[in-house]
Amino acid sequence: MTVSAIVAVSENGYIGKENQIPWHLPKDLQYFKKTTLGHPVIMGKKSFLSMGKPLPGRQNIVITRDTMMYHSGCDVVHGIPEALLTAYQSQASECFIIGGGEIYKQTIPFWDKLYFTRVHATIEGDVSFPELNADEWQEISSHFIEKDEKNTFDMTFIVYERLKHT
Ligand SMILES: NC(=O)c1ccc[n+]([C@@H]2O[C@H](COP(=O)([O-])OP(=O)(O)OC[C@H]3O[C@@H](n4cnc5c(N)ncnc54)[C@H](OP(=O)(O)O)[C@@H]3O)[C@@H](O)[C@H]2O)c1
Repeated sequence: MTVSAIVAVSENGYIGKENQIPWHLPKDLQYFKKTTLGHPVIMGKKSFLSMGKPLPGRQNIVITRDTMMYHSGCDVVHGIPEALLTAYQSQASECFIIGGGEIYKQTIPFWDKLYFTRVHATIEGDVSFPELNADEWQEISSHFIEKDEKNTFDMTFIVYERLKHT
């Protein structure tokens, strides 16, 4: 199973503000949907609560330390290894870590691939994307999208793969 992360990050490193995504970019949401549809998505409880409901067409795996949490349409788990095992047991070819900050930070060692949208804006935020070691990643594609009347910032869809050392 390929373990991928998918994220949108501002020029100054932010991914969230007040438990929301700090921009409205329908083209990025379409890209997120197209990329993750049919695959398990793994998220922290704060990101799940911010969305409010499970993402349709995907196995939703929510990580929390709250052993009482239950939500229809979600597999609730209590740690990172359990989340990955739950996706693996679904015979998934690829699973997606979809945030937020705490979950990205703790899962970096498991990522094989990173779908990284650079949002070309400097914004205020309170949750950042963790620093990655550039030596461990190679860019395999990059696609610039110009802003328009519905998408208020330019963005670039970049895909990275982890470099394999022999
Ligand atoms: N730009 C993007 O692409 C993107 C994507 C996703 C999210 N976001 C944004 O990111 C922000 C949320 O990120 P966040 O860092 O505050 O929260 P988060 O990572 O979504 O969730 C944190 C919660 O996950 C649970 N958790 C974390 N590590 C755990 C572990 N090892 N074992 C068990 N449970 C664990 C805890 O839940 P309990 O407290 O219940 O134990 C913790 O409070 C929001 O602003 C959201 O909009 C942005």
